[in-house]
Amino acid sequence: MLLKRISWVFALFMVASVALYAGPTKEAGKELFTANCASCHAKNMKDKLTGPALGGSQARWGDDKALYAWIRNSQALIASGHPRAVELWNQYKPVLMNSFTSLKDDDIASLLLYIEDVYVNGSGTTKPTTPVEGETKEESDSSMWIFGGLAILLALLAFALMRIIDHLGNVSRTAAGEAAVERSWVHTLASKGFVAFLVFASTLILGYKTVDNATQMGRSQNYEPDQPIKFSHKLHAGLNKIECQYCHDSARRSKHSSIPGTNTCMNCHSAVKKGSQHGTAELTKIFASIGFDPIAGKYVDGYENWSDAQIEDLYKKWIGQEYMSEKSLTALDEAGKDLVQNQWDGIVAALKNDSNGKIQGPIEWTRIHNLPDHAYFNHAQHVNIGQIACQKCHGPVQEMEVVYQYSSLGMGWCINCHRETEVKFGNGFYKNYKSDYIKAHKKALGKTDAEAEKVVVEDIGGLECQKCHY
Ligand code: HEC
Ligand code: HEC
Ligand code: HEC
Ligand code: HEC
Ligand code: HEC
Ligand code: HEC
Repeated sequence: MLLKRISWVFALFMVASVALYAGPTKEAGKELFTANCASCHAKNMKDKLTGPALGGSQARWGDDKALYAWIRNSQALIASGHPRAVELWNQYKPVLMNSFTSLKDDDIASLLLYIEDVYVNGSGTTKPTTPVEGETKEESDSSMWIFGGLAILLALLAFALMRIIDHLGNVSRTAAGEAAVERSWVHTLASKGFVAFLVFASTLILGYKTVDNATQMGRSQNYEPDQPIKFSHKLHAGLNKIECQYCHDSARRSKHSSIPGTNTCMNCHSAVKKGSQHGTAELTKIFASIGFDPIAGKYVDGYENWSDAQIEDLYKKWIGQEYMSEKSLTALDEAGKDLVQNQWDGIVAALKNDSNGKIQGPIEWTRIHNLPDHAYFNHAQHVNIGQIACQKCHGPVQEMEVVYQYSSLGMGWCINCHRETEVKFGNGFYKNYKSDYIKAHKKALGKTDAEAEKVVVEDIGGLECQKCHY
């Protein structure tokens, strides 16, 4: 009886401490910042990057409620005419901050705690960071420490309580004239109640951790991995105004919007053989992958069967030759030898460490967007039939030096858009589609004429589970 009551007390205590842990902390803020904000805001909170320095934001806004609203949905606040929001927009347009509608109050409080702490006490670098492997590990380590510490603390408390209970039991026994039962601390540790508590506590902690991890799994907004070649969308799609679909041509026709093959690159780079930014360092990787001889200006016969030494000879000669002609040298100097070796090492690192283990073969880009297998998404449906611009989902790619995942790709994100976006009935796909029927149906459900006139994706079944799930 007593034991039961104690375990209830513990249960409450555990729930309370888990809830306490979920409250705002700098550590949680750091994790959130790294995952969501560091791609645009400097980590030292003092420098301007894509977005402004965040140090002192709270003071600048004065009003926490508006600041929270800004972080959740900056565009809505700009639209509402909030003076600070409009001022920011005028300063930074057309760059938009992402929406973070899923952040809870505690999350934002944690973020602000972390931001002000770094701003005032330092630490952090200016480098825009992406979830670097080492860093995420360090952070999950630190949260394991917190959980470990919490577990030990609770065990100690439980132990102390068990001892007190034993003692109280004895007090009441002596009062009732019975003999006191002396239990050593070893007995207490081995007692059923204590062991049951330990099992209960660890299940709760592990369970919490598992659920927490599971909800994070597969979500990788702002994921911005290093790529084997420094390919810049800003340069190609922005500056040179190459159409998205020139390279991602399958977006129009199929489920997937494929990454272009090396052949597509060669349409231009068989002529553009050196870059103004990296010289021969990056473009030679394209040549070495496909077997293009930039000196002779043609593809190598039987490149598949070339040895690494043959390949090394050819491309080192090309890199050296370009270096010498730049410096008007007839032979490589020391600096030139270093440069040739460095660039060659870069080529090997980018091409040879891939799945086929050879320099020859396609460039293996690291995939950024990736829905879980149970979800179905079709590009052609959205790009072609829905007539949605790539940027609506992928953000201002034409301004990105390195592509990152702009939207959450979470289920809520898909659903929200399906609730709001009107179906474009004007195109050929809907020639025989009875939109009048839907409108009549909506009116029958009591919608006004104006509401019924607006047919959104939801009305054509865009919220049905099986449309998006296999
Ligand atoms: C895609 C880039 C991007 C990301 C990611 C981003 N921001 Fe921003 N942020 C901006 C830009 C750009 C502005 C300036 C206003 C504008 O143009 O919308 C801004 C402005 C702000 C401001 C106003 C600062 C001031 O001086 O008043 C705050 C606060 C802010 N961001 C917080 C955050 C937080 C917190 C996160 C992460 C949860 C975040 N931002 C993620 C781009 C970003
Ligand atoms: C010159 C060819 C080229 C053009 C033009 C181009 N892209 Fe790309 N795109 C690539 C290559 C190569 C990659 C893979 C490397 C990378 O991620 O940067 C890529 C990657 C991407 C990715 C990430 C894919 C993933 O791994 O999940 C997106 C999204 C994307 N492009 C969208 C666009 C949009 C939107 C435009 C137009 C504004 C565009 N691209 C224009 C070549 C191009
Ligand atoms: C429609 C033409 C075109 C296509 C297609 C194209 N590029 Fe480019 N690329 C350019 C131009 C123009 C430049 C700018 C060259 C300069 O810096 O002077 C460039 C520059 C680059 C650079 C930077 C070179 C440097 O050192 O500054 C890289 C890397 C690059 N391209 C990779 C690629 C890859 C990879 C592909 C295929 C996915 C590709 N390009 C497809 C036209 C193209
Ligand atoms: C309605 C939102 C939406 C639009 C519009 C959209 N995309 Fe995507 N894109 C996605 C999603 C979601 C994924 C992840 C798909 C997956 O993992 O199966 C993705 C993935 C990609 C990829 C990675 C390869 C792949 O197919 O998985 C590329 C490249 C890409 N998109 C380019 C584009 C281009 C270029 C356009 C415009 C022509 C475009 N997207 C329009 C949502 C969109
Ligand atoms: C920017 C808005 C937008 C986003 C984000 C978006 N969709 Fe859509 N989706 C549309 C529109 C518009 C249509 C209607 C296209 C048409 O006319 O058939 C559509 C249609 C669909 C359909 C066909 C529905 C039907 O009834 O035939 C599926 C399936 C679908 N979307 C899946 C997804 C998934 C999965 C995601 C998230 C990964 C997503 N969509 C995100 C706008 C969006
Ligand atoms: C418009 C497309 C769409 C519709 C409609 C949709 N889902 Fe999803 N759902 C998704 C996508 C995309 C994911 C993956 C989200 C992620 O990785 O966070 C997902 C994830 C899930 C998950 C995994 C849990 C999670 O959050 O990752 C479950 C369970 C789920 N959906 C159930 C449903 C049920 C039940 C329905 C019908 C009531 C439904 N879905 C309707 C797109 C959709």
